Amino acid sequence: MYVWSLVLFLLLVTLKLSSADEHNHIYEDQEEVVLWMNTVGPYHNRQETYAYFSLPFCIGSKQSISHYHETLSEALEGIELEFSGYAIDFKEDVPPKTETCMVELSEEKYKAFVYAVKNHYWFQMYIDGLPIWGAVGKEHDKKFYINTHKKFDIGYNGKRIIEVNLTNENEQLLHVGAHLSFTYEVNWRPTTVEFKDRFDKYLDPNFFQHRIHWFSIFNSFMMVIFLVGLVSMILVRTLRKDYARYSKDEEMDDEHDLGDEYGWKNIHGDVFRSSSNPILFTSVIGCGYQLTSVVLCVTSFAIIGDLYTERGSLLSTAIFVYAATSPINGYFGGSLYSRMGGRIWIRQMLLSAFLIPSFVCGTAFLINFIAIYYHASRAIPFGTMLAVTCICLFVILPLTLVGTIVGRNLNGQPDHPCRVNAVPRPIPEKKWFMEPLVITLLGGILPFGSIFIEM
Ligand SMILES: *[C@@H]1O[C@H](CO)[C@@H](O)[C@H](O)[C@H]1NC(C)=O
Repeated sequence: MYVWSLVLFLLLVTLKLSSADEHNHIYEDQEEVVLWMNTVGPYHNRQETYAYFSLPFCIGSKQSISHYHETLSEALEGIELEFSGYAIDFKEDVPPKTETCMVELSEEKYKAFVYAVKNHYWFQMYIDGLPIWGAVGKEHDKKFYINTHKKFDIGYNGKRIIEVNLTNENEQLLHVGAHLSFTYEVNWRPTTVEFKDRFDKYLDPNFFQHRIHWFSIFNSFMMVIFLVGLVSMILVRTLRKDYARYSKDEEMDDEHDLGDEYGWKNIHGDVFRSSSNPILFTSVIGCGYQLTSVVLCVTSFAIIGDLYTERGSLLSTAIFVYAATSPINGYFGGSLYSRMGGRIWIRQMLLSAFLIPSFVCGTAFLINFIAIYYHASRAIPFGTMLAVTCICLFVILPLTLVGTIVGRNLNGQPDHPCRVNAVPRPIPEKKWFMEPLVITLLGGILPFGSIFIEM
């Protein structure tokens, strides 16, 4: 089954990059409209989500429902759609106070709801791919209330659903032994908004009421420009000085030629020497080329196509583009390795192909343990892991191989502008802050700082 979903996923992605939904978004009158329950989680940590029915909500009376096919990226993003049991039909109003089901609060259920309300839990649902959010309940004066009535105002235009407004009403006090009756109503309203504009509402900054920290982005940007400017100024001055001394030397004949070497003359015999660990070095370079192209491609796809309108399509696109750009990795890594005179190119290619996937999967694996421990919806099922492994083995690896072979053949001959000295110059003693470990950490501080402030 997972192999099929993988094949289907690849097919869908190849056919049409941004569309992976089973619905065509067109409804006939009285056709069933499915309300999918997705997740619940604390409002102040949007990454922490649990399946909707992990809280003791009850499922409506309606049982039969067409099956929902989850895509790979939805599984990775922790989307878990479950049918709500609410009967909703296109353009058919449901009168107020229609009961779906009843929950009798046992001690355990009471505690679960109180915990959720205390931690400002909110839930997310989908109607026709449109996300809907709402609060589970409210706290007044140390008493906990839960919203039991959901009012859906659905706007339609012709045969398409344009917008959904959810209003939570009828707060009920939570106490052990209470009988909570969950009710809903649906009102259909015609609207003139076009189908293609239906996601514009979510792009309006007032909708989520989040602010972009323009100042800190600007600040980081200026900092980067300042540092780049500083470094290039130092380099240019050093080069100028070297240049001036060379021309002076030429005028003063060859007196100083021996022994008094400096600047470029000093290092030109060593700059093209292959690194002490060429396999790792060239793999990292290849991965860098690949990551840069992935970022550029996905960013431009996101700008051109509306990737935010389909669940999980940004991640599917990213995975697809990553797999598709593997030859770039192979080409640049493999050709550089060959120019450095490397022989064990198969090992280099394997490391190149699996370097980023293993870092990502390793991190995901750790997070997965935590997610499984807390029963969070982000826990990645075994089948999904298998699918990801399959993509790595059967898509990324062969494409990297192709890139490596092409790179070695087209661009594999050394073409350095100057000779490499046979004897490497000894590297002078370094200060402690020039050690690789310290430099690695320091290099990451600036990008980390700018991202951390934003988060
Ligand atoms: C949903 O709410 C918005 C803003 O309050 C309103 O403009 C719109 O008409 C509502 N839509 C429906 C279908 O009730």
